Amino acid sequence: MADDAPGPVTEPGVVFLVAVPGLEAPLADEATRTGFLGVRQVPGGVEVMGGLAEAVRANRVLRCAVRVLWRVAEFRAMHLAQLDKRARKVGWGEWLRADVPVRVEASCHRSKIYHDKAAVQRIAGAITAAGIPVAADGAVVVKARIEDDLCTVSLDTSGEPLHRRGHKTFVGKAPLRETMAAGFLWQMGFDGTQAVVDPMCGSGTIVLEAAEMAMGLVPGRSREFAFAQMVGGGSEGPCPSRSPAYLGKDEGARFFGFDRDDGAIRGARGNAGRAGVDALCRFERQAVSDLMPPEGLAPGIVLTNPPYGARIGERKLLFAVYGALGATLRARFAGWAVGIITSDRGLAQATGLRLEAVGPVDHSGTKVWLWRGTV
Ligand SMILES: C[S@@+](CC[C@H](N)C(=O)[O-])C[C@H]1O[C@@H](n2cnc3c(N)ncnc32)[C@H](O)[C@@H]1O
Repeated sequence: MADDAPGPVTEPGVVFLVAVPGLEAPLADEATRTGFLGVRQVPGGVEVMGGLAEAVRANRVLRCAVRVLWRVAEFRAMHLAQLDKRARKVGWGEWLRADVPVRVEASCHRSKIYHDKAAVQRIAGAITAAGIPVAADGAVVVKARIEDDLCTVSLDTSGEPLHRRGHKTFVGKAPLRETMAAGFLWQMGFDGTQAVVDPMCGSGTIVLEAAEMAMGLVPGRSREFAFAQMVGGGSEGPCPSRSPAYLGKDEGARFFGFDRDDGAIRGARGNAGRAGVDALCRFERQAVSDLMPPEGLAPGIVLTNPPYGARIGERKLLFAVYGALGATLRARFAGWAVGIITSDRGLAQATGLRLEAVGPVDHSGTKVWLWRGTV
């Protein structure tokens, strides 16, 4: 591309799928499975080929993506005056509407332009000059990343992060994000057919995510996205609620959540009802030491994130909880795959199970691993 000719990054463009740090690989696999083209795993996420239509589909169908950025322009900028001049040549009106205010974010890395706020100001000026309002609380976010003097402009087509599917209005203590639950389920080999048990389910994230996958439900079926506020974004039609590949094998409960906290169980049941998966799920109040394998089902997957990260005194009590979990699984769950999500190697080892560590994965600033094995 000529130095002074901002325009589309490439033809056809690039859609960047932001991953949970550490779950780039399952996201790349998911993008391939769901038919995206040009899938390329890179640090922080996955690139796929496409434009607005692919961004819309990615937002709606991908379970493991955190957000979807559509790259719309790329140009060199060695200093602020050049950034200003070249940003004014970008065809903002092709994607942004004159009636929807936008917010601008910028980050500078290894570049002559190093002042994020000054970069925001120049790009915001160019967008305003194109007749599009800019506001701090704009509904659509324009992200400029200046790296090695190359400015890449992307539109955030998601809005709210994608783990907010719109069903889990009850969130217990230290909930897992849906995007992480999906990635861990796949790393456990879940393909929609096995039984899944979470003995410390909290708000039920793992169980709900598994049941939704089994029913072929589309994760974005109940929420709004920022793309609807972009030029052409409203013309994509309503989100289908089920994948056309769904085979209809969803009779009988095979997704189970237990927790010793009654409030968590009531909340998880409510979440399951809102997600439309209650026919496949059972949530019961029960301590981990009373856990039994579900009757009449082949060995499946136990996946859980027990409490961790507690203060020293509390950690002693947690050793007992992890020990009880391990003892219960060893006594009653022969043949089941086990996954324990925790930041604490010592606690994982306290289960007495032979587990390999997969990770780390960033869980809201804490590094956690999936400790994986078979009983
Ligand atoms: C980190 S939270 C799980 C969060 C859950 N994955 C979610 O997304 O909401 C850990 C859960 O373990 C439960 N728990 C702790 N000790 C337990 C025990 N001995 N038996 C059963 N549940 C227990 C807590 O009540 C809490 O809900």
